Amino acid sequence: MNKVIYENEQADLEISFSLNGSSVQVSIKPWETAIETLRNKLGLKGVKEGCGIGECGACTIILDGRAVNGCLILAAQLDGRTVETAEGLGVNGALNYLQKSLSR
Ligand code: FES
Repeated sequence: MNKVIYENEQADLEISFSLNGSSVQVSIKPWETAIETLRNKLGLKGVKEGCGIGECGACTIILDGRAVNGCLILAAQLDGRTVETAEGLGVNGALNYLQKSLSR
């Protein structure tokens, strides 16, 4: 019996994108979600996973200027794009109104 081997099935992918105004490059698994990459690999804890099925909005990120659910986006889909998170909302170290309201 022939066995099909998908050689790159487990391979990491290299992606790069703009994150809160800075260029980042990160190695991801093909099945990794955007919030897994942002939280676990890039340390952005403002991105939260709530329901994990696109209903609560706790994972919201801004992708190319549009709010999307980070739990429903694969990290691979961030490649070459612009991502903003709550951490990127402040200006010159000052918290913006949303950051202030979330820190209470
Ligand atoms: Fe609830 Fe993404 S975690 S919408």
